[in-house]
Amino acid sequence: MNLPNYVKIVEVGPRDGLQNEKAMVPTDVKVSLINQLTEAGFVNIEAASFVSPKWVPQMADGADVMARIQRRPGTLYSVLTPNMKGLEGAVAAAADEVVIFGAASEAFSQKNINCSIAESIARFEPVAEAAKEKGIRLRGSISCALGCPYQGEVPVSAVVDVVRRMRALGCDEIDIADTIGVGTPGKVQDVMRAVSAEFAMDRLSGHFHDTYGQALSNILASLEVGISIFHASVAGLGGCPYAKGATGNVATEDVLYMLHGLGIHTGIDLEAVVRTGDYISQAVGRANSSRVGRALLAKWAAASEAAPTCA
Ligand code: HMG
Ligand code: MG
Repeated sequence: MNLPNYVKIVEVGPRDGLQNEKAMVPTDVKVSLINQLTEAGFVNIEAASFVSPKWVPQMADGADVMARIQRRPGTLYSVLTPNMKGLEGAVAAAADEVVIFGAASEAFSQKNINCSIAESIARFEPVAEAAKEKGIRLRGSISCALGCPYQGEVPVSAVVDVVRRMRALGCDEIDIADTIGVGTPGKVQDVMRAVSAEFAMDRLSGHFHDTYGQALSNILASLEVGISIFHASVAGLGGCPYAKGATGNVATEDVLYMLHGLGIHTGIDLEAVVRTGDYISQAVGRANSSRVGRALLAKWAAASEAAPTCA
């Protein structure tokens, strides 16, 4: 296999991971989570959303979160911006990157952002223009690229079409998102190959939710065709509020374990991420969804029980 030497991981736990939590997660916890992730070595962290608080109440404290985190030079702190109001919030918060998020399925676009795909692109135009003018990096995210909870099958041509539109808006990076985790490796390779004919392979990313347990396989399949940016969520936190039944993103710990095992560098300290996964799982009162996280925590606990205690 011809695999890359380095893979960029975009940690999306603080945004995608927490946005679906029913009970409000205290701002302090969000800030601590992001600071721990920064310490662990991530170069890109999706930190907040500047969306309507009526639609996603959990993300309402984005400005506070962004004001209080300790930023490390060299790490990009990204935020979601569906419209100009979001962009204004992102600029005020000094976000390093803004994310416009559309869909390859009309039905999902309506449910998630209350407009058609064409309307969303028109809404993104001034956002993209303002981001460019202010020198803020622009990322485009395409939901339902491997299937839609409302529409079912999504043709590859629909994904390619949105990639072309996001490219025309000047996106620096484009995410191919499997919102409900239904993709399988062959289909993922078909989509990645098709979109890479329209947009530079090294600026395309895979954003895989792990609902059907396919995410790691889909990452490996994507690596095989040349993708080298992946999104992941610490402890596998998450789900989309507008995709019922969708579970979290693939767990960051599991992705790191696989990549490091393949000899691929990420610059991220796996053990630190495992400790962070333990912290956030306990803080939100959820089981840790990372297999690697659970395995290493159990191994460390067993080792500390076996160790002789000092008087
Ligand atoms: P709308 O209701 O059509 O918009 O929602 P509107 O312009 O009529 O505004 C309605 C109200 O929201 C107004 O307040 C606005 O001021 C306010 P009111 O006058 O009623 O008091 N508002 C805002 N407030 C703060 N920040 C803003 C903002 N915009 C409007 N930016 C809208 C349209 C896009 C705003 C709404 O549908 C929305 O916020 N949707 C966000 C949904 C969302 O965040 N989904 C989850 C993230 S996407 C995701 O998880 C997928 C991804 O992970 C990839 C994948 O896995 O597929 C990225
Ligand atoms: Mg997502």
